[in-house]
Amino acid sequence: MKFTFKRLVSLFFVGILLYCSLAVFTWEEMSMANNSITRELGSTGIKIRPIGFGAGQLSIGEYTDESQAIAIINEAMNVYDMIDTADSYCLNSSDTGHNERLIAKVFHNHPRKNQVIIATKGGLIRQDLYNVDFDISPQHLRDAVEGSLPRLGISSITLYYLHAPDLRPNPKPNSFETAIQTLAELRKEGKIKHVGISNVTLEQIKVAQNIVPITAVQNSLSFFDRKDLENGVVEYCQKCGISYVAYSPLRGRDGHAGISQDENLLRYAKEQNIDDPYQAALFWLLQQVPNIIPIPAARKMENLISSSSVLGIWERFCNNR
Ligand SMILES: NC(=O)c1ccc[n+]([C@@H]2O[C@H](COP(=O)([O-])OP(=O)(O)OC[C@H]3O[C@@H](n4cnc5c(N)ncnc54)[C@H](OP(=O)(O)O)[C@@H]3O)[C@@H](O)[C@H]2O)c1
Repeated sequence: MKFTFKRLVSLFFVGILLYCSLAVFTWEEMSMANNSITRELGSTGIKIRPIGFGAGQLSIGEYTDESQAIAIINEAMNVYDMIDTADSYCLNSSDTGHNERLIAKVFHNHPRKNQVIIATKGGLIRQDLYNVDFDISPQHLRDAVEGSLPRLGISSITLYYLHAPDLRPNPKPNSFETAIQTLAELRKEGKIKHVGISNVTLEQIKVAQNIVPITAVQNSLSFFDRKDLENGVVEYCQKCGISYVAYSPLRGRDGHAGISQDENLLRYAKEQNIDDPYQAALFWLLQQVPNIIPIPAARKMENLISSSSVLGIWERFCNNR
């Protein structure tokens, strides 16, 4: 075959076309893969990795050694896109905000500062490990937000939760509605960007939605505690574009120790080809509904690394289905 100039030119353009279509295909494939592993935070358009870090345990009950806590938060910022905290994550009310202060020590110098969301909460006052007081009055919530902002060293909190409704017997009438109204005002003022609610029922979610857009609901959910999957809370959040942030995803500080012996979990782990039952418990949550974001705690680095490696297991699962 004779390679005339005309033929060479057309071969050149065919080559370019082929190259471009391959490049587009690969790029699309990659972005599809990325989209499938990230989850939207509520209906904000913000895409985040589907597991976050629950920092609370570093400050509740006893303080984790500070250099260890800082190393753990630093690693959590490397691997996750959301860090969960609260002003009441401390030993008692004389050190309110301990956990937020720890996070701030790492956050501002971290290279992923702009990718990581800090979510904090107000409405509880800690007395000790197991006892809290409730104060969801407008004045307390305003003071709580005004306290968290400088502790975190930021001018607006990306996600701010009402930590809990007033769960005492005979709370003030409409105290929940008034609290959500206060968060709506703080959002208008720009002090918080998105509103979350925690420890809530389906009815309370609906009440809150009538006052302000709700970005996240944070309740207890795990392989062992499926209440919100059974009572419609998770499904309702999914339908409304609300993230469901699952706390105590490994059955919590006191409950986690026995999970490696749980026969049902071990059976599920075997079916999924996952050797570590803790990882299987997190994977199970990701498999339920696409709006669930578990926030496992860790005071030990090896536990953080083990939990965060579920992101890789999840990515492989998404790419193969
Ligand atoms: N909104 C609320 O009212 C509320 C209530 C409770 C918790 N939370 C939030 O949710 C976060 C998590 O919940 P949680 O603190 O109840 O506990 P959790 O996530 O269920 O974890 C319990 C314990 O499991 C251990 N662990 C974690 N990953 C592991 C792994 N891969 N392998 C082996 N062990 C592992 C950790 O022990 P070590 O600590 O010894 O490493 C951890 O403290 C809290 O830190 C807090 O931010 C919110």
